[in-house]
Amino acid sequence: MTDIPVPPTLDAPLLTVSDLSVRFPIRGAFGRNLGEIKALDHVSFDLAQGEILGLVGESGCGKSTLGKTLMGIQAPNDGSILFKGQQIAGRTPREARELRRTLQYAYQDPGASLDPRWKIGKSLEEPLIIHTDLPRAERLEKVREILTSVGLPAGHTELFPHEISGGQQRRVGLARILMLNPEVIILDEPTAGLDVSVQATVLRLFHDLRDTFDLTYIFISHDLSVVRLVCHRVAVMYLGRIVEVGPVETLMDSPKHPYTQSLLAAIPRINGPRVTENFWLEGEPADASKLPQGCRFQGRCPHVQPLCRQQDPADKTIGDQTVACHFAGELSPPTAKKRQTA
Ligand SMILES: Nc1ncnc2c1ncn2[C@@H]1O[C@H](COP(=O)(O)OP(=O)(O)OP(=O)(O)O)[C@@H](O)[C@H]1O
Ligand SMILES: [Mg+2]
Repeated sequence: MTDIPVPPTLDAPLLTVSDLSVRFPIRGAFGRNLGEIKALDHVSFDLAQGEILGLVGESGCGKSTLGKTLMGIQAPNDGSILFKGQQIAGRTPREARELRRTLQYAYQDPGASLDPRWKIGKSLEEPLIIHTDLPRAERLEKVREILTSVGLPAGHTELFPHEISGGQQRRVGLARILMLNPEVIILDEPTAGLDVSVQATVLRLFHDLRDTFDLTYIFISHDLSVVRLVCHRVAVMYLGRIVEVGPVETLMDSPKHPYTQSLLAAIPRINGPRVTENFWLEGEPADASKLPQGCRFQGRCPHVQPLCRQQDPADKTIGDQTVACHFAGELSPPTAKKRQTA
């Protein structure tokens, strides 16, 4: 996918997320409170109309929680979400319904969002029954139209989910969301579990649909090579915080946060030199319920300094990248840790 259009402007963001925090209580026996997990810790970013923003990070870093919180499926503890300049929290039920239509979340597991007992046609028609007053004939017409736009034959309405492939289930999941004319779609691991050739056609489909339906995407993935192909910008999350954000090319060619550097070092590069040599992410992330004082990446960082153990780094702006590292921009290519070979 070499034809990503020019990144859209952030002058008038469609979505503005500020200082969003979500904490989950940890309960022990008899409901005893054993602390809390900081799933999102003061997350802030903007999303421009038409943009595809990648959201990457290891399992458990808070990607799905962010998606669900934007959708209103998960309530935040702190922070604000502005959609087209209007606060999402505190809306009337009617406004909230309208908003849910505008913002849609494509679940990590597409099979799970389809009822196995329902034919695909029924699954696709259902959102129209709930959210619109369209008469049956128009609903069926819309079902056929959207099925075709996701590249499936209209006859698939008569099939059950188990009768179609994983790639086709993704398309049906997407069709279900498109039934409601959304403006922003949060795609949670949209190509996970698909083989590479199917991934490529599904990625192409996202681009085509974005152009046809004027969509804006948040593209959640732990696969940086996929993100590089489809996104304008990328936000890298580590233990509930966005540690680096920037245009996809700049961030991938010149990562400033040691965590981003290590994620990129783990990708085999076919074209061009590797971003970093001899640097591999070791160990596990810190426990999200016991974040250390100072920087959350200190335990795995090859550049760690005393300051990192004392102060949580503020966001630094370097060119068009924002980086949460005390030493961002001063780090030489990391060579401190050699990969152990057996
Ligand atoms: N409903 C919940 N109750 C308690 N803890 C939760 C809940 N949902 C998520 N968490 C915790 O919050 C953290 C972030 O989880 P989240 O599902 O957002 O991660 P993720 O980045 O989407 O991971 P993955 O790549 O595996 O999908 C994890 O520590 C997780 O265990
Ligand atoms: Mg997830």
